[in-house]
Amino acid sequence: LDNGLMRTPPMGWLAWERFRCDIDCENDPKNCISENLFIDMADRLSEDGWRELGYVYVNIDDCWSSKERDSQGRLQADPKRFPGGIHKLARYLHDRGLKLGIYGDMGTYTCGGYPGTPLDKIEIDAQTFADWEVDMFKYDGCYSNATEQEQGYPLMSKALNATGRPIGYSCSWPAYQGGLPPKVNYTQLGEICNLWRNYGDIQDSWDSVMKIVDWFFENQDVLTPAAGPGRWNDPDMLIIGNFGLSMDQSRSQMALWAIMAAPLFMSNDLRTISSGAQSILQNKMAISINQDPLGIQGRCILKKSHIEVYWRPLSNNASALVFFSRRTDMPYRYKTSLSKLNYTAGSYKVCVYRLRRDMYRV
Ligand code: GLA
Repeated sequence: LDNGLMRTPPMGWLAWERFRCDIDCENDPKNCISENLFIDMADRLSEDGWRELGYVYVNIDDCWSSKERDSQGRLQADPKRFPGGIHKLARYLHDRGLKLGIYGDMGTYTCGGYPGTPLDKIEIDAQTFADWEVDMFKYDGCYSNATEQEQGYPLMSKALNATGRPIGYSCSWPAYQGGLPPKVNYTQLGEICNLWRNYGDIQDSWDSVMKIVDWFFENQDVLTPAAGPGRWNDPDMLIIGNFGLSMDQSRSQMALWAIMAAPLFMSNDLRTISSGAQSILQNKMAISINQDPLGIQGRCILKKSHIEVYWRPLSNNASALVFFSRRTDMPYRYKTSLSKLNYTAGSYKVCVYRLRRDMYRV
């Protein structure tokens, strides 16, 4: 979407995978979906070196609102869990150089059963978000049908634009259409959305990460051309720092998301994250590859002996390669050459990001 926003993949934090729809603030005050959770994450982002690296969005997901609209038909935050309201939370973030994202749904209800934003509510809700000084909006698709989506996703794009406030727009539409043409029209998506979810939800497991990676690269011929500055495929959140991935698997998710030009939204607990996970997520080389201004999504170029090579062209005639091993049997010697990787003869400057000390000889 050509609204001047998200010319490189957006980066930040998103509540869903780690904190879900925990609304039990009485028994679980630290982890429930409440303004305190977002304030805590904002403090961590601004005090622990994240913001300077580009992690600036703090995104609310499902289960933030009251079950009823207010007397004027507007969405309102749950008064117990967000006593200060969303606008005040947005101010808190803006004062710290951060941005606020919020969540809604095209259907009658959100996936978690909260009030949705169906067709007749699109304008009023877009205006409410702008009044609250929200910076990004994720529009989910539960409880809506194909005909409604066809109208709703473009209409919301127009409505957000009409508020005059720059609001990044994340569409879950293609995920509800199976992710592929002819149902999904990637040209249209690139015109109306800044990013879109193409595939199912990530869960806290290596299995889930691999399922997503397989789908994205199996369909790379369709997906790669759809991405570019202002329009990104979204393979879903980074789950590094949670319970499901080993350190090597965490490094792999970071490297593959960087190559894919994926939005980098962490869903973890920044208050208790290990220093190991933090240093993977804060790796400057991985981030700069992800944020390359050309905005070309990378591709899988070789698969052999359970070793895969991924390639992404970067600005200034540079390119990034990821060597990814699916082997779990034993250390495996993998030898390649520039010509095998389609590089023409010439001299190259090589910059190696060694994920592990025992890897790579150039
Ligand atoms: C869907 C979305 C998730 C999350 C939940 C919230 O499953 O794909 O990312 O927003 O709804 O209920």
